[in-house]
Amino acid sequence: MGASILRLFFHDCFVNGCDGSILLDDTAAFTGEQNAFPNKNSIRGLEVIDSIKAQVEASCRATVSCADILALAARDGVVMLGGPTWTVDLGRRDARTASQTAANSDLPGPSSSLSTLVAKFAAKGLDARDMTALSGAHTIGQARCATFRSRIYNDTDIDAGFAALRRQSCPSIGGDDNLAPLDSQTPNRFGNNYYQDLVARFGLLHSDQELFSGGPQDALVRQYSSEESAFARDFATAMAKMATISPLTGTAEEIRLNCRTMASSQSLFSLCLLSLFACATYAQLSSSFYDHTCPKLPRIVRTAMIQAVRNERRMGASILRLFFHDCFVNGCDGSILLDDTATFTGEKNAFPNRNSVRGFEVIDTIKSNVEAACNATVSCADILALAARDGVFLELFNGGSQDQLVRLYSFNEGLFAGDFVTAMLKMGNISPLTGSNGQIRLNCRKVN
Ligand code: HEM
Repeated sequence: MGASILRLFFHDCFVNGCDGSILLDDTAAFTGEQNAFPNKNSIRGLEVIDSIKAQVEASCRATVSCADILALAARDGVVMLGGPTWTVDLGRRDARTASQTAANSDLPGPSSSLSTLVAKFAAKGLDARDMTALSGAHTIGQARCATFRSRIYNDTDIDAGFAALRRQSCPSIGGDDNLAPLDSQTPNRFGNNYYQDLVARFGLLHSDQELFSGGPQDALVRQYSSEESAFARDFATAMAKMATISPLTGTAEEIRLNCRTMASSQSLFSLCLLSLFACATYAQLSSSFYDHTCPKLPRIVRTAMIQAVRNERRMGASILRLFFHDCFVNGCDGSILLDDTATFTGEKNAFPNRNSVRGFEVIDTIKSNVEAACNATVSCADILALAARDGVFLELFNGGSQDQLVRLYSFNEGLFAGDFVTAMLKMGNISPLTGSNGQIRLNCRKVN
């Protein structure tokens, strides 16, 4: 399985970058890469990635891409079989597309010549040395008879005894799926025996033997065959390089929840959990919105509000009003928090606010605490909404204006509390910006 996962990663990276595209299943409406010629009836290990993904999702929902999981799993498989380790830079995102055409054209085949191998790796930014070292992946794993039949029946640069041995389990007709080890000596140990095979003309694939065929890579193959540490070092370097082929980063594409399907074909519910940014127009406000991305948020806000109200009892009221004035002007979108600048006139100096609304510095404090815990995740608008709620909870409520109702509330606290909560929830829902509308400001006083 270590070998199969390593190959899965190679076949992912070589087709439009290490973006998890190979993991996408074909559907009636989508043709992915799994049935491309180099992959069909050949790649394995998808269920291992599924199982890792399910466990990762259970710990960190919608956070780690399938592409990153595959990159880590490939490295760990090599290490478990005795191979070298390398640092896997993370942060890849998953493709929302795949290309069977690119899989057919970009991946080298077992009958490739040396010049084709060099060219196909060069097209991915990997030089001949990288190619020769990466081919050493064939120190582990198996190949099907269909991929080496032509070599053992037709090639001349093959040890005769070795060819005869392999022919026993790989007939000239039939037995396509019969397996043989790519490394004749130690197929379950990640070492340099593969290169010793090449020097002895025991290469299983035609493409393997091309590396040692009187050409420019001969010297390197000979060096690797006698110096395992040189191979291990170059393999690790080349793997780290291969792992960075055109990754999708930042907000590109998506983090899949299930590596086999794109988010667009996952349920709306799943889609909205996918990432704060990907929720786009489907987003609804939800009290559990930050449960996974910023679980400390409620505590940070509550703690800061306790402090603020302790410093000045009036602050709960001030923050409550700040929230009210925010919500009533184009919705609860944090617009009231924006400072005026030479080129921007905000709401702070509007008549109802000027020299009147207060508590900005409390929101600033909460925002910086929240940023320290969950960078660029929680909006200023949400912080203000939570702070207003907490302020009320901690402080006093200052009456209403409708006599009858005020009287009712004055002796029926339960009624008041219920109505108040209902009205607050209603107010908090006034035209919020959700999904990809607006932004997550880094500093509440400035548009990013
Ligand atoms: C240099 C060009 C390469 C060619 C032409 C090639 C071709 C092949 C072929 C034909 C097989 C057998 C597939 C089957 O039987 O269905 C195979 C297996 C394998 N390849 Fe490559 N490969 C190349 C490079 C690489 C690279 C760069 C890696 C990883 C870094 C890699 C990793 C593997 C592994 C580990 C297996 C065994 C998989 C298993 O047992 O499931 N190969 N390769």
